Amino acid sequence: MTSLTQLSQAIHDAPRWHQENLFQNPDDIVITPLAGEALGAVVTGLDARKAQSGETIFRLKQALAEHLILIFKHQRLDDLQYLAFASYFGAIFRPSADNPVLATQADTGTPPDVIPVSNAVGQGDYTGHGELSPHADHQWTPTPSFGSLLYAIELPQDGGQTTWYNTIKAYEALDDQTKQHIDQLQLITYNPFVRAKSNKGSQGYGNSPLYRFKDQEILGHAYPHPLVRTHPETGRKALWLNTRTEVELVNYDDQAGSKLIAELREHILKPEFRYEHQWQEGDIVFWDNQVTLHSRRPFPAEQRRLLKRISLAGGRPF
Ligand code: OGA
Ligand code: MN
Repeated sequence: MTSLTQLSQAIHDAPRWHQENLFQNPDDIVITPLAGEALGAVVTGLDARKAQSGETIFRLKQALAEHLILIFKHQRLDDLQYLAFASYFGAIFRPSADNPVLATQADTGTPPDVIPVSNAVGQGDYTGHGELSPHADHQWTPTPSFGSLLYAIELPQDGGQTTWYNTIKAYEALDDQTKQHIDQLQLITYNPFVRAKSNKGSQGYGNSPLYRFKDQEILGHAYPHPLVRTHPETGRKALWLNTRTEVELVNYDDQAGSKLIAELREHILKPEFRYEHQWQEGDIVFWDNQVTLHSRRPFPAEQRRLLKRISLAGGRPF
């Protein structure tokens, strides 16, 4: 018999509800919205290693759709336990090799199921120690992930905070005229990993132009998605626009398009739409990638930071 994949092994080994000591009592779980923040809720009393009830997963899914990020405190998981927990919420995101993303491997053409996000050389140092500008993961793919989880294992003394941006609030705060104008627009987000390759060695991510004018070369594949997307469960509308990589409005004048995008980006960055997370070891943050952006503060190169990310598959934005 062939050996199981990591994911199959994870679900094969996972505790089941009838194992009493490994079953999570739903009554122990408390979900507390972050007071005075633009998004987020803290989840305590939950051990992600345990088997979860249907009631619990349904409640968590609803809380995620409402608060957009869930912060699970005090977790202690190995990779298989982490995969088994994350898989309650959806299939693992596996882009094809023609759409490179963070941690795409040369041999498989896709990222591993559990991605180390670290600054340790050769051990998942995909993002180094620098700042990461506000982005949604995989926005340049045909079907970007609906959500991701980041699990904090080792943290630096200084910096490295991650900030999430509520792009529903950002959309809702626009004036009616702007909303009406942008509601039907399509946006292409060009793949920064394709650009990074073409720049040969230089850090392409964060270095690309902010807008593609029609006389500029196209790098990689282009997948237009709505600039204003609708959340699949709540129906709420959100801006689907990162603040730093190369984008282009479809069938739109170059000058007017680059100006509109610059204005919307400035708007998204207003402090009232964001929450900055100060990590503690054992935190898992699970975010809705459809209606949020996230960014990271830089931290000193000589301090170690290790988080592990699992991304879940999503549908075509609408
Ligand atoms: C990511 C990411 C932010 C961080 O893994 O997708 O953006 O804080 N990470 O490391
Ligand atoms: Mn990211």
